[in-house]
Amino acid sequence: MKTLTIQKAIDLLVGGEIVAIPTETVYGLAADARSDEAVSKIFKAKGRPSDNPLIVHIGDIAQVDHLAIDVSEKARLLMDHFWPGPLTVILSSTDIISGLVTAGLTTVGLRMPSHQIALKLLRKSGIPLAAPSANISGKPSPTSAMHVRNDLKDRITGFINGGTCNIGLESTVIDMTTDVPIILRPGSITRAEIEIVIGDVDSSDATFEKPKAPGMKYAHYAPKAKIFIVRGSLNFFRSLIKERKENGLRVGVLCHTSSRALYKKAHVVLPLEKQGKNLYDSLREFDNQGADVILSEDFGNEAVMNRLLKASENRVLNEDQASEERISSEVEN
Ligand code: TXA
Ligand code: MG
Repeated sequence: MKTLTIQKAIDLLVGGEIVAIPTETVYGLAADARSDEAVSKIFKAKGRPSDNPLIVHIGDIAQVDHLAIDVSEKARLLMDHFWPGPLTVILSSTDIISGLVTAGLTTVGLRMPSHQIALKLLRKSGIPLAAPSANISGKPSPTSAMHVRNDLKDRITGFINGGTCNIGLESTVIDMTTDVPIILRPGSITRAEIEIVIGDVDSSDATFEKPKAPGMKYAHYAPKAKIFIVRGSLNFFRSLIKERKENGLRVGVLCHTSSRALYKKAHVVLPLEKQGKNLYDSLREFDNQGADVILSEDFGNEAVMNRLLKASENRVLNEDQASEERISSEVEN
């Protein structure tokens, strides 16, 4: 897999190829969103289910009216306020975008990223770029060039190296086609920040049986080690570490930076930076360091906990719950 300049990446994209590019959230695997052939290569390289639609990235707000119809005033306010930036707006789509991108839905998700490389590429080429996260489906999203290389080196021709992603979690996704807008995926732009701009919105419960963002139903962001979110006292947390060590497991702990020193008995302790910037890197690092099980603190940040609950398949070990119940939930999963 070659490291590309912006111009070389554009040449490949114009030729119907796929390339990985940095954005401020996570690296994306990009293709011309108008081409069935190019877009099908994304699904193939990632091993992504075809019923999971892709986000389309644009560099110029004028492109919105080519790609979408019935754009509400509120949607325009959001785009004016938060673009370029980590917000994806779901709108009714025109038929310019490949049906593979929208996975047969009548809507399309649009985003203008703020990363300087992504923005330059989009503006110079004028191509609307379909780009999901540049990981193999089911793995943690890539937030560094090394993650992209590890996942896709044999599957794509090239990528642009933009260093480490600033935000490290995928964009907030908001559906603007309903009467009351719905946040489908929480991200670094919060519900409160959005409500200041457009008033009340709903949010779809991340643990819904049938989430509206099709991607939210798949096991996601998961390292090889099983993750458990721990809710309870420090003593409880430490007893869980001890139990698992006694069972011969290599124990990882994900914690606040300030509580790092409390878990000396665990094998691998990784502190989560503010807003979860290194969440995906940490999940990959637990695998690199051979953790069998990861015990995680609760971080109280909606976007972080959304990803962690998914990665753990909602496994929560609650001190208030009877231990037999806890053990059965652990075994079932
Ligand atoms: O930050 C991001 O959004 C990154 C970077 C590369 O821009 N991209 C990203 O794409 O996270 P992806 O494909 O991994 O996640 C897209 C999410 C999925 O949950 C998908 O189901 C949802 O957005 N989505 C896309 N189009 C949709 C639509 N028309 N209606 C509902 N949900 C949609
Ligand atoms: Mg993804």
